[in-house]
Amino acid sequence: MSSIKKRSKTTVQTLIRMKARGEKITILTAYDYFTARLLDQAGIDSILVGDSASNVIHGHQTTIPMTMDIMLAHVAAVARGTERALVIADMPFLSYQPSTETAIINAGRFLKEAGAEAVKMEGGLEMVPTVKRVIECGIPVMGHIGLTPQSIHRFGGPKVQGRRERSKAYLLDSAQALQTAGCFAIVLELISAEVASEITGSLKTTATIGIGAGAGCDGQVLVINDMLGLRDDSFKPKFLREYADLKPTISDAVTRYISEVRTGKYPSDDESY
Ligand code: KIV
Repeated sequence: MSSIKKRSKTTVQTLIRMKARGEKITILTAYDYFTARLLDQAGIDSILVGDSASNVIHGHQTTIPMTMDIMLAHVAAVARGTERALVIADMPFLSYQPSTETAIINAGRFLKEAGAEAVKMEGGLEMVPTVKRVIECGIPVMGHIGLTPQSIHRFGGPKVQGRRERSKAYLLDSAQALQTAGCFAIVLELISAEVASEITGSLKTTATIGIGAGAGCDGQVLVINDMLGLRDDSFKPKFLREYADLKPTISDAVTRYISEVRTGKYPSDDESY
């Protein structure tokens, strides 16, 4: 018998158990088949098909222009490349806010048409009735509080949340209410580390996944392009650690290709039929 034990499929229940055991949860975003395969094979717990695709894939300034059709295509590609990790689809702006019925139908499309296993929705207390109904329909939901990028114009920029008493109380109450509604996890984005730790300690059955929220969360998420160095130089938030610097690697490969085609060095006889 092989001594290599195949890792079992990650489900929302796996993440809840990991929180209970104090095991850190790892999540990265992906938007395409091949990247998803690489992340899955490397052992990531979950892949979030973020609406950050709007920025890093489609070149928009915000996540606001993202549509259901574009997100469905990204989620389907990622699901085809993933065997073990939990695939979470990010619901784009105005695909769930207008009404609970809209939210259920659009969340269901990610599962039925694209192969997602859960969806993510931004918003705290005000989104709880919708989140609850979606979960009652059998669709696992990850919440998202703190700096919620779809509301960037209301925040007036990427400002750290939870520093004032009112903001802290809103975040703590929202996290409790999302847990009661049945969320398996909540993204905590750009929240002071102290408040994020307090939220994490206050939750039993909902894992917290931080991005710019300190080390006290149950897990962490980063945008894959950012952590691989595939980003504009102007974007370098304090929380971002670059695990690779692929920009010069890609630029160098493309520059050599251009030069070798122009000088007749590529293709060689060995590379021809
Ligand atoms: O869209 C996204 O990638 C996200 C993560 C940054 C949490 O929401």
